[in-house]
Amino acid sequence: MKKKVNQGLVIFGASGDLTYRKLIPAVFDLFMNNSLPEGYAVLGVSRTAFSDDKFRKKMKEGIRLFAHHKDATNDKINIFLAKIYYLSIDTAIGDEYGKVKEKLDKLNIIFNLGQNYIFYLSTPPALYNIIPKFLYGHGLTLQQKGFRRIIIEKPFGHDLQSAIDLNHQLLEFFQEDQIYRIDHYLGKETVQNLMITRFANGIYEPLWNRNYIRHVEITAAESIGVEDRGGYYDGAGALRDMIQNHLLQVLSLVAMEAPAKLTAEDIRYEKMKVFRSLHPLSKDDLKNNVIRGQYTEATVRGKHYNNYRDESNVTPESRTETYAAIKIFIDNWRWQGVPFYIRTGKRLPTNVSEVVIHFNPSPQKLFKQMDESTSSDNQLIIRIQPDEGILLKTGMKVPGSGYEVRSVNMDFHYSELNDHYIPSAYERLILDCMIGDNMLYMQGEAAEETWKFVQPILDYWENDKDAPLHGYPSGSWGPDVSDDLIDGTENTWRYPCKNLAEDGVYCEL
Ligand code: BG6
Repeated sequence: MKKKVNQGLVIFGASGDLTYRKLIPAVFDLFMNNSLPEGYAVLGVSRTAFSDDKFRKKMKEGIRLFAHHKDATNDKINIFLAKIYYLSIDTAIGDEYGKVKEKLDKLNIIFNLGQNYIFYLSTPPALYNIIPKFLYGHGLTLQQKGFRRIIIEKPFGHDLQSAIDLNHQLLEFFQEDQIYRIDHYLGKETVQNLMITRFANGIYEPLWNRNYIRHVEITAAESIGVEDRGGYYDGAGALRDMIQNHLLQVLSLVAMEAPAKLTAEDIRYEKMKVFRSLHPLSKDDLKNNVIRGQYTEATVRGKHYNNYRDESNVTPESRTETYAAIKIFIDNWRWQGVPFYIRTGKRLPTNVSEVVIHFNPSPQKLFKQMDESTSSDNQLIIRIQPDEGILLKTGMKVPGSGYEVRSVNMDFHYSELNDHYIPSAYERLILDCMIGDNMLYMQGEAAEETWKFVQPILDYWENDKDAPLHGYPSGSWGPDVSDDLIDGTENTWRYPCKNLAEDGVYCEL
């Protein structure tokens, strides 16, 4: 492991929700696991006026609610909080950054930070090109004395052109190896496990191609609606919010070739090849292989859920999709002709993210299937969350006379590894940035390639009045037409439940 040196973390947008729910709890967990260097400090920067004490009080609340070590003693939390400071500035005004520099100079002396700083941008995206410029203007991006790194939260761009522009703007003030574009899905243990499953086992990889795999499903279902994020979400939609980043990242890990070495450079290179091989969607593909939906009101088990259009900060005639499904092909030797089905949505029946590998059926149907309504095909399910684990569906003889087959589950659940601490995604990613490892962060070029793939869909939805937007009742699995996306009349999506080993049965919203 690379060495952790003394350093400071500067969080812009420190009064926001992400800092409260994810970032500070993650840094606190690093502290509890003795993963922070001896000399360490956090400086929260935002417009909102807070004293250090008031900010610490709020962060303590966040730790008590969201940290893994939420039950730590008050003493422990207070020792950690003593390293946290707050500065209120107008981040849109250049001169104000003199105060950031001044404060950092002081913290540098108190905590012996070696002038090593990470700047974390957790602000509205409109500030992503402003803050780097002003940091640069005050000499805060130059690495003459210590390292300077910048973490950029998603969304990285709103479309292809804005992502290209943002990359250009960042590169005016930082070198590519100083820029850490975060995609928190890559920080999830189970997403990293995709590589282990594939490349640490001898049995899967020989089958991992178009000769043995019929299709692949990638699902990220959420039961929540847009909650209080209507203002952001209505301008984004499911394609931008989940597919362009998280789900295409997952797809790249499922589809990539084995890297030559376990280095950031090799892995990013292989992932990049997948993005470059995504088959561009033609006009026909846009009509036939892409589905969007929006949730409508429904009463599920006595609880009423609103129309998306009635959510706060959503325009009443909004055409923003809260569900999206796409059939994707990858143009290379390994995957030619194998469909990858990706879907995501809000207000679906349950919270599940998983990858399902559907293998080709056996060539001869010698045996009768016990339950004709369930598939006898082998499926490998890699569960990202919840009930994290891996499940192989395989055919077994039904005991007794005759030769009937039934599908049974061979499953492993992460919860069985209870002697292992599983870090949160943010904990892992912040720690990686601290040691200068960008393997799990997005390359600038990869961000652009993924936007390039989704841009025709965004254009089609925006410009073609006939592009359908299907309503789907809250608590359902999205628009009915989604089932038609899957090739083969006998094939459907897997309808998973919270528990990895269950599917097809009714799941509660
Ligand atoms: C975020 C999206 O990036 O990911 C949210 O903006 C979504 O809309 C979230 O709910 C899902 O992340 P997780 O880790 O809860 O699966």
